[in-house]
Amino acid sequence: MSSKPPTKATFGFGAIRVPIFEPTELFARSIGLDTDVVSKEMYTFEDYEATELVELRTAAVTNVASLASGEALIDFLDRVGNFILAAEKAFEAGRIPKTSENERTLQMARELIANLQTFRYQGEREILPRVAELKDAVRQVRFGDVISLRPEATASVCRAYIEHGMRQLPQPVKLYYIGPMFRRERPQKGRYRQFYQIGAEVLGGSDAPAIDAEVIEMVMTFFDRLELQGVQLDINSIGHSADNCRRAYVEKLKAALENVKDKLGPDSQRRIETNPLRVLDSKLESEQGIIATLPRIADHLCEDCATHYAAVKHQLEMRGVIYRENWRLVRGLDYYMRTTFEITAQGLGSQNAVCGGGRYDGLVELLGGPPTKGIGFAIGEDRLILSLQESGKAPAQQGRDVYIAWMGERAHATAIRAAKDLRKAGFSVELPPVEQKFGKALGQADKLGAKYALILGDNEVSEGLWTLKTLADGSQAKFTEPDLLVHLKKQL
Ligand code: HAM
Repeated sequence: MSSKPPTKATFGFGAIRVPIFEPTELFARSIGLDTDVVSKEMYTFEDYEATELVELRTAAVTNVASLASGEALIDFLDRVGNFILAAEKAFEAGRIPKTSENERTLQMARELIANLQTFRYQGEREILPRVAELKDAVRQVRFGDVISLRPEATASVCRAYIEHGMRQLPQPVKLYYIGPMFRRERPQKGRYRQFYQIGAEVLGGSDAPAIDAEVIEMVMTFFDRLELQGVQLDINSIGHSADNCRRAYVEKLKAALENVKDKLGPDSQRRIETNPLRVLDSKLESEQGIIATLPRIADHLCEDCATHYAAVKHQLEMRGVIYRENWRLVRGLDYYMRTTFEITAQGLGSQNAVCGGGRYDGLVELLGGPPTKGIGFAIGEDRLILSLQESGKAPAQQGRDVYIAWMGERAHATAIRAAKDLRKAGFSVELPPVEQKFGKALGQADKLGAKYALILGDNEVSEGLWTLKTLADGSQAKFTEPDLLVHLKKQL
């Protein structure tokens, strides 16, 4: 490891900031409806401005009294009528979505009200089914757009690529992001509901295997530089979704799974129908023996995908990147095709994937953009830091260069000026906001790991000679203001 890591973008990636929330639709289409992330882990909200409707709707669907009398029914219809009237006005004004679903629902509610109004009261049994239908209609009125906190950022980067015409930029476009993601998972060590990712994406016209290899090389170089321990790179190819490739394999896998269905747990049994590939992800001890006997995708890749995979492996070898092939690595998001990879590290227990990624050609097109190739990854920053801490490799908190210990009004003014000049010269400076006795100030400087204490009292200010104490050995020397800067620049 070099002592000073380069601060330049050595692989040429530029930053992108994508929104914290997006229309739910974007994630549902990209990641897939049957994935865990979309089907149960997203934080999803209706984003609306017509707040008055919420109260009216609650009042409409809540039964204060039972509908055991004609008056109670009239009261109920009044409340529902108030809601529908307000919703219709909001619809006309465009304050709730002007969708055909909303139009139909409002119309249906109107008809149900009219129907119930002309209904001669006979008893609860006759009216209850109609009331239930009306309540359903009331609940179905959509107040606003459905949005989700981002569970990942690849979908948003692809959306941005389309929306901001990045096709016009020199290709491929190489982007990175750092930020919070949200998934409603069961929290445990290394698994959080708000977690942080450092991700990178390469988008453009080429799916050259060298791109896959360079992306992987980049993240491995980063981990190497951080001295992350026990790093293990697993790679696989999951082919592409054609009849002669993954689709045929999934059919075979499904058939094989049907044969052993009774021996599988409820999660895997369910996945045979919804997403058979995910059965391969199972960590259940009792399923491992069965999974080992299942057909493997590597034996079913089409010629193009097999060639691509072989070339990716060759490119990794050219770069000296050590990998392990793992036929069970399918990843949990639907947009992947061909190359998939995952990196694990030491000290993380069961949540040991510190990075996951893969190729997603076709995702941009699926979202309405031009045919585009894509590959990327995301590092789980929380897990990365956990692993570095466990192995004692986490960077220590940086100490200050100079702690300014000042006493007295005049010295405070000088201290403020000194702090400004020292910071301008690039030093890290701590300037206590209130006066402290010198003894206490020096103790504080020590705790903050400062290298020097600049002591400014009445004497120093009057003489124009400032005292600099080297905290490591306790030695002291006096300097004029300009000499001090020259001296510190030589030392630090
Ligand atoms: P992912 O595998 O879902 O992929 O997440 C990537 C990494 O984020 C995981 O390997 C893990 O380190 C971290 N992570 C995921 N969920 C949690 C959680 N609940 N708590 C803590 N860390 C977590 C993606 O998100 C893809 N968008 C990666 C990608 C980019 N593929 C192509 N481009």
